[in-house]
Amino acid sequence: MSSTRKLRSQEWFGRQDKMGFYYRSWLKNRGFPADQFDGRPVIGICNTWSELTPCNSHFKTIAEHVKYGVLEAGGFPLEFPVMSLGETQLRPTAMLFRNLASMDVEESIRGNPLDGVVLLMGCDKTTPALLMGAASVDLPTIGISGGPMLSGRYKGQLIGSGTNTISMSEQLRAGEITLAEFHEAEQAMHRSQGHCMTMGTASTMASMVEALGMGMPGNAAIPAVDARRNLLAREAGRRIVQMVKDDIRISQILTRQAFENAIRALAGIGGSTNAVIHLLALAGRLGVELNQDDFDRLGREVHCLVNIMPSGSFLMEDFYYAGGLPVVLRRLAEQGLLHKDAVTVNGRSMWDNVQGAECWNEEVIHAFDKPFKANSGIAILKGNLAPDGAVIKPSAASPHLLKTTGRAVVFSSIEDLHNRINDDALDIDESSIMVLQNCGPKGYPGMAEVGNMPLPPKLLKKGVKDMVRISDARMSGTAYGTVVLHVAPEAAAGGNLALVRNGDLITLDVAERRLHLHVDDAELATRRAAWAPPEPPLHTGRGYAKLYVDTVMQADKGADLDFLVGRSGSAVPRDNH
Ligand code: FES
Repeated sequence: MSSTRKLRSQEWFGRQDKMGFYYRSWLKNRGFPADQFDGRPVIGICNTWSELTPCNSHFKTIAEHVKYGVLEAGGFPLEFPVMSLGETQLRPTAMLFRNLASMDVEESIRGNPLDGVVLLMGCDKTTPALLMGAASVDLPTIGISGGPMLSGRYKGQLIGSGTNTISMSEQLRAGEITLAEFHEAEQAMHRSQGHCMTMGTASTMASMVEALGMGMPGNAAIPAVDARRNLLAREAGRRIVQMVKDDIRISQILTRQAFENAIRALAGIGGSTNAVIHLLALAGRLGVELNQDDFDRLGREVHCLVNIMPSGSFLMEDFYYAGGLPVVLRRLAEQGLLHKDAVTVNGRSMWDNVQGAECWNEEVIHAFDKPFKANSGIAILKGNLAPDGAVIKPSAASPHLLKTTGRAVVFSSIEDLHNRINDDALDIDESSIMVLQNCGPKGYPGMAEVGNMPLPPKLLKKGVKDMVRISDARMSGTAYGTVVLHVAPEAAAGGNLALVRNGDLITLDVAERRLHLHVDDAELATRRAAWAPPEPPLHTGRGYAKLYVDTVMQADKGADLDFLVGRSGSAVPRDNH
């Protein structure tokens, strides 16, 4: 640290006046000695612990280890809570509140006497929310993920979060398992602290934290209950103190290079489509130029190397024992698919961090020349059904459906789908294309994870396992199928998706990146003239939901609120009362 640089926290603690008394004295009620206010780095530990966010329920322990590290390095740690978003409990969808939580994070960091911050993130939306908020302040920052749960096991089989929830609920609907078995599997699936242990959104985003250089090596996969997770937290606590001294800010880590590395890593792990939205929103906070087409272009030459559910058969615990994300990053780097000199939070380059990584199980992490799935980057589809793009994850789709023309069976809302899907009289067969409207950012609101619509029971009983499904919704990262998502503009905003009618022909051609509705422009114009926006969803007349619906951007822009794009920095007015 330059001996002349005065830390930000000294604007609070360094004052020798009435305000300095306030700032120090009230904290001294905790027993902090005077030397804690002497100009040493003050580190905020931004905690999303909550009993309503079960995936983050061990974060008090992680925070303790960060504190030990900060103290060992001569810093002053102060833990603070922010809004926590529990994917399984929060209605209507945690995504509705990602941007709200990011505002909480941003203002909590900026308004307090902090020089650096450690973000504790786990359940899906807590990761982008904290990264986005911190990015808009731009202090030295390290991200720590909570780590995945231990593998689920039931009747001798691995069962994975979400993935087997979906398959077992289909089995229950098809009468293949009993309700008692269904209940028994609940406690067999989730048997330790941590987040979902499939390559769902939480594991994907934890991998993004590491691939972006925002996390310590190993961040993506160390199980939540493995002591090495605590060790990582402790090292991060030590390291953030040095980052403050060296004034290495989050904007110096999250460069265009970092995002390109993350996009390639996303393809290498066959990660969740949700990462597209979150990375776009994060880049928007930083002013980094990034768009959906970057995901398609950069991911095209990349193979999926990891054999993890929902695309594969193993789980995150296996991934860690096989060497974890550093092996994937090393393999990408050896193919020239990674910016080796990207800066990471531990002070070393990306290549320094991963060049020694070894693979201990080639079944779990495949070699690049024997990939688990070839050319598996996320594909961005365009066409008159999605002029601003739509997303599909080919690695989770059925190969025989990647080029299909079928007649549309349209559901105007998720309620409409639930009301009719179990009706044996529904006019649908396995060659139909299911279309769901009004589940996008404004339409739902919050863009629920309902894009992987349940298949009609009458087709399940015939053994149909997958069908083409198209919507403006998102899909859980733990889900799978030939599912086209994030159609933009969404139906509720007047996109052509709103104009699709039963029986229209639709062509999906993933190789050509095409999503076409076989209805001519004149007919579309006629339909548009007759179209009326759907009834506003529940509770969108006031409060945060109104703010969200009024200002949320479309999926191709990351679904951030339009006024949150960019960063305000860390300066705050001096308090003079
Ligand atoms: Fe929290 Fe899946 S429900 S990570």
